Amino acid sequence: LKILMAASECVPFAKAGGLGDVVGALPKYLEKLGHDVRIVMPRYYCVDREKYGLKLLPGILVVPMGVIGNQYCGVYEGRLPGSDVVVYFLEHEGYYGRDGLYEVNNEGFLDNDNRFAFLSKAALEICKMLDFRPDIVHAHDWHTAAIPVLLNTLYLNDPFVGGRPTLLTVHNMQYQGDFYEGLMDVLGVGWEWFNFLNLEKDGAVNLLKGGLYHATLINTVSNGYAREMHTSDYGWGLEGVVRERSADLFGILNGVDYGEWSPENDPFIPATYSACNLSGKKICKRELQMEMGLPVRDDVPLFGIVSRMVKQKGIDILAEALPWILSLDVQFVMLGGGEPWAHFYFGDVMAAHPDKFRVKIGYDNPLAHRIEAGCDFFVMPSAFEPCGLNQMYSLRYGTLPIVRATGGLDDSVENFHEGALTGTGFKFWEYKARALFDTVGWALHTWFNRKDAMKKLISNAMQQQFTWEDAADKYQALYLLAIERRLGGEN
Ligand code: ADP
Ligand code: GLC
Repeated sequence: LKILMAASECVPFAKAGGLGDVVGALPKYLEKLGHDVRIVMPRYYCVDREKYGLKLLPGILVVPMGVIGNQYCGVYEGRLPGSDVVVYFLEHEGYYGRDGLYEVNNEGFLDNDNRFAFLSKAALEICKMLDFRPDIVHAHDWHTAAIPVLLNTLYLNDPFVGGRPTLLTVHNMQYQGDFYEGLMDVLGVGWEWFNFLNLEKDGAVNLLKGGLYHATLINTVSNGYAREMHTSDYGWGLEGVVRERSADLFGILNGVDYGEWSPENDPFIPATYSACNLSGKKICKRELQMEMGLPVRDDVPLFGIVSRMVKQKGIDILAEALPWILSLDVQFVMLGGGEPWAHFYFGDVMAAHPDKFRVKIGYDNPLAHRIEAGCDFFVMPSAFEPCGLNQMYSLRYGTLPIVRATGGLDDSVENFHEGALTGTGFKFWEYKARALFDTVGWALHTWFNRKDAMKKLISNAMQQQFTWEDAADKYQALYLLAIERRLGGEN
């Protein structure tokens, strides 16, 4: 198949979260299945043209932006490292020539509407420039959710992309791309699409809503989240649309790039190890304690967290539970950044408990690897989690996840069963600090008093496989289904 994929992030070029990991991995595995995948994304300042050997293509891409008029941009071409997957980078100084993907200093850019309307349109226009006729167009999240709408309206009869089926992957229902209604004149699809069954929600343009209505098929990144999206607790006001499209909505759990995340060959950790020989993990723990400024002790359980510091990730209940947790004989390390209150709060906790709690504010991939390797437990108390990658990484590193049983966390972690000695981690259900604290206590008790069970759990955890091969097979099946649907004249 010829697959056109449009996204706002792609590892290793630009990443704010798991979306980048997915867009950087899935195409490689689709390519292995014999497909021709082309990715279109912005050339942000963080995309280093020299480092990745990007080449400027001849010609200028012209993108009609409605009332704004035509916009012109250069297109750089590169390859996803380790593959032949082609990535096209949109070089538009006005929209992408700045630091940050979506924001700086926690302030979203005010022109994100135009920046991502441009991405969505440019992804379609580029097909003309390249003489590329995709069989399927794959969009991700609100940033490119306008594509299914554009294909059903403005581009319906386009000779290159007209009539092509679409798959919209939802990585997060909270971020919807809702903007003032004037965006309709930039999209240029006509005001007849500004209504409750299309792009309008609460008097504003809602790009995700439009995408959910217009995509041939929809998927999200776990079966659990696919179910949760139907409810008002998790649908963020779009649960009604989700229910309407329920028959066309699928869950596909993300894979893990085990080339990047395996303790056997991780270049970022001080000692490698495997399920048969865990001695390197002890070294990783000691080195991590040293690196973070904690007392070097084998006889204390070390908990870790690597996370965006936003409410989704449960940092409010963690903040509440932390003083109780730190009253016990434990150590805790944290890496992340996000809401300013959290930076201050966790910084204060560190000042009060320097021997037990250390936090590093910022983004640090090598340290994320060392935390995965060096800790005994990995904490993810998310309020919601469409998939979540860190719990899957931590399983592979024998670092038992403590998770709230939601979305992909619930689907990928099996709760410890004391009698049968089965499971891969520790779960709680209620979104309460108390429930988190109790579960940390359960893990702590197991660590101190049930060495046999810990061994078994670690071994179970390290055997888990969440491969991109599996996920790519499932995406391929959805592409084929979408093509079949479109041929049958639907959506
Ligand atoms: P989300 O995309 O919602 O943030 P995921 O669990 O899907 O959550 O993906 C988060 C990704 O970002 C993981 O690869 C994780 O290791 C990485 N990550 C998050 N915060 C940091 C940080 N502060 N430093 C390094 N890596 C981080
Ligand atoms: C989103 C979700 C996260 C998921 C990631 C990749 O950022 O919050 O749970 O793992 O997308 O699909």
